[in-house]
Amino acid sequence: MKRKLTSEIIDLIGEKVKLSGWVDCRRDHGKIIFIDLRDKDGLVQLVFLGSDKDLYQLAETLRSEWVISVEGEVRGRPEKMVNLDMITGKIEIAVEKLEVLSQAKTLPFDINTNGYDIHEEKRLTYRYLDLRRGRMKKNLMLRDKVIQFMRRQLGEKGFIEVETPILTKSTPEGARDYLVPSRLNLGNFYALPQSPQQYKQLLMVAGFERYFQVARCFRDEDTRGDRQPEFTQLDIETSFWGQEEILEMTEALFVETVKKFCPEKEITQIPFPRITYGEAMEKYQTDRPDLRKDKNNPDELAFCFVVDFPAFEWREEEKRWDAVHHPFTRPQTTDIEEMKRIPDKILAYQYDLVLNGSEIGGGSLRTYNPDVLAATFEIMGHTWAAIYEKFGHLLEAFEYGVPPHGGIAFGLDRFFAILNNEPSIREVIAFPKTSDGRDLMMGAPAGVDEEQLKELKIGIIK
Ligand code: AMO
Repeated sequence: MKRKLTSEIIDLIGEKVKLSGWVDCRRDHGKIIFIDLRDKDGLVQLVFLGSDKDLYQLAETLRSEWVISVEGEVRGRPEKMVNLDMITGKIEIAVEKLEVLSQAKTLPFDINTNGYDIHEEKRLTYRYLDLRRGRMKKNLMLRDKVIQFMRRQLGEKGFIEVETPILTKSTPEGARDYLVPSRLNLGNFYALPQSPQQYKQLLMVAGFERYFQVARCFRDEDTRGDRQPEFTQLDIETSFWGQEEILEMTEALFVETVKKFCPEKEITQIPFPRITYGEAMEKYQTDRPDLRKDKNNPDELAFCFVVDFPAFEWREEEKRWDAVHHPFTRPQTTDIEEMKRIPDKILAYQYDLVLNGSEIGGGSLRTYNPDVLAATFEIMGHTWAAIYEKFGHLLEAFEYGVPPHGGIAFGLDRFFAILNNEPSIREVIAFPKTSDGRDLMMGAPAGVDEEQLKELKIGIIK
């Protein structure tokens, strides 16, 4: 017989079915044993009657989290036994055949609670068990549904998803890079991408015009509640679009997503309010204001755009101007004299998407005009040679017909944490790292064999 899922048997009363899954719990009632069987879709009640002695005896040995397979008849439950909290609450399986596929030790913690009170190190060490928890399943399922939906929405708008390399060169997002030594080019290193920023700009030069990617990004920075060393962006880049079109598309994407998957949530204001960086700092003393009307209400989503960030900021310790975001962020002027005269007054086409006080996205239009780019680097006190060393591939590409372009990237983990009312992005990532960057389940990072180091000509300074 072919195995069925618990979700597939609700209408099969009277039919024989085969089910497989985990023993969620067992209740003995003298002459009758009830087992809740759990599979990926839910639970169903199994019934073992004392009349079949061998079967009953085997059922008595079952313990929580054993994996079993059963065959039996789907029966309607007597009226007063109906459980409306369960999707399969109106049926049960009168078991005729039971096979134990594997046994389980007692779990290190309870998986039938929300798990918040269990020490997180323990949850992360046994993440594969922690993920059996209903709350974690729900979080990962919503994540999957929303990402699929976003992919479809973008696809319909003519965007294509392009994968970009993980083994690459340093990117200008401002965090520390993770480095990977190269065996074939001894002494040289790849950097893991802090974002696909330069690749997506190069894809615009290549003529794709509308790119997106559900992209893994790597930043060696101190981890906290809304930061992980590796995280996921919905990364977007467009050609010939202005800031307005990018913000409109962003708003539509998030409004549609919330309406479809979280209809119980209320978006505080549509269209999303737009606040300039200057206003935000003056009125809220932060560039990610929390505009919820009631911060205790878990179903309120207050989106806003923060726009018009300054292009440059003064670095006192280095005594020089630096780009607030990165040097490719387009200033709101093409007047080069003005840029050099009053860099502190120059605004940039740079914008953030903020949700309930959390920065869930950021982007900009990019400078593609070589004179403006040169002026930017000059203001920052960089020589053209130093810049060419770092960004030569991009600058050269811009000499072959570069369209005006710009984009945005959303921190999906942060968005999902807020959608699920979770206190940390670790609750919406299948296998997150601890605050000191460790994967407790795999035991990473870990030492490597002397041989591997030798091959790479790397020595460790003790
Ligand atoms: P930015 O650096 O602002 O922009 O990143 C975009 C969004 O990614 C999320 N984010 C993070 N999420 C979890 N853990 C982290 N360590 C982390 N760092 C950032 C935030 C943030 O808003 N290439 C540009 C985008 C562009 O200009 O198009 C970029 O990466 O939600």
